[in-house]
Amino acid sequence: MNAVEIKSNIYWVGAIDWGIRDFHGYITQNGTTYNNYLIMDEQVTLLDTVKYDFAGTAIDNIKHIIEPSKIKNIIINHIEPDHVSSIDKIMALTPDAVIHITAMGKKGLDRLFDTSAWKFRIVKTGDTLNTGRYNLLFIETPMLHWPDSMMTYVKEARLLISQDAFGQHFASAGRFDDEFLSCFSAAELDDAVKDYYANILMPFGKLIKSKIAEIQKLGLEIDMIAPDHGIIWRKDPAKIINMYLDMANGKTDLSVAIIYDTMWHSTEQMTLPIMQGIKDEGIDCRVIKLRSAPMSTAIKEFWKARGCLIGSPTINNILFPSVAEFLSHLSGLRPANRIAGAFGSYGWGGGAVKGAYDEFRKMGLEIFEPGIQVLYKASSEDEKKCYEFGREFAKKVREYHEKF
Ligand code: FEO
Repeated sequence: MNAVEIKSNIYWVGAIDWGIRDFHGYITQNGTTYNNYLIMDEQVTLLDTVKYDFAGTAIDNIKHIIEPSKIKNIIINHIEPDHVSSIDKIMALTPDAVIHITAMGKKGLDRLFDTSAWKFRIVKTGDTLNTGRYNLLFIETPMLHWPDSMMTYVKEARLLISQDAFGQHFASAGRFDDEFLSCFSAAELDDAVKDYYANILMPFGKLIKSKIAEIQKLGLEIDMIAPDHGIIWRKDPAKIINMYLDMANGKTDLSVAIIYDTMWHSTEQMTLPIMQGIKDEGIDCRVIKLRSAPMSTAIKEFWKARGCLIGSPTINNILFPSVAEFLSHLSGLRPANRIAGAFGSYGWGGGAVKGAYDEFRKMGLEIFEPGIQVLYKASSEDEKKCYEFGREFAKKVREYHEKF
């Protein structure tokens, strides 16, 4: 795919990674894109680079517009390798270009590359760059996604180049939101936004709120948001900002995710009457079996639901390994505004259900107790108890949901 003009003389010159399925452990079922942008002005300016595997593609895209040696400024909004790992190849083509980067970005870049011959300008929030027709404003966004991160606002184009924020791991032929208007594709895009937020940005809700407030306070007029992954928000940039604010404020669906694993199908057997109990209370429910679904899918489904039930058999008095792994991963994402409960089967001592509640407490989740556990295999009496457990949980989820 060649360069795509997104605003007058501003081009997408990135790469589409159709094949990636494992993005440092995050299973990217839809692939991804590495977006970078070229401003054709008196001073030709490149914003971000791409993952090293795609350096050739991005350089070809730039060559479609101009010889890379003409680039005068390179803005590095974020130094994670999916965006910066081809900077050395770019610098080899335009060694006199000035790199505009935050202080934390420079510190990291010095560890990743031999930067001794490169020219730098360290920037902070409020600093600007005039490229001729365009005036660029830098806005630091530390921890969105790394300490080095910043965004670049192109004033005359009303364009916010937002690096990871507002992105999605979503490879597609279309570059813009208005190319995803059918029911199915719009839903797919929404799901990709939530998937990305859940797996990458869940810990940073408070920061997201304060950074959006700061941007709003600056009074920037924004009619396009161009992230470093996925599609560009052209038709309705307010939509993605509102989606982020909603997620950061704890809004989600009134639904339940049952996330479980099983050894000999006993814990699995419990999921069905529990699910039925939830459904009979009028609440939608998704069931995810760990080891049959990617971890990142389980995280997304947790995030999309107000309530979560964890099902785990007991093994050696503790949680089943895949369930322990899920809870450990979830804990790092610092979940909030969700209610959780646990169930499971055991053979003699038990321990898994208690282990799940211990993890919920450490995470500070709202808790529904007591959990339910069955010895060896659920009897028909146990199944009735599971059904009632599901109903009671659903009632609590509905009650808790009203707070948001
Ligand atoms: Fe897409 Fe934090 O890198």
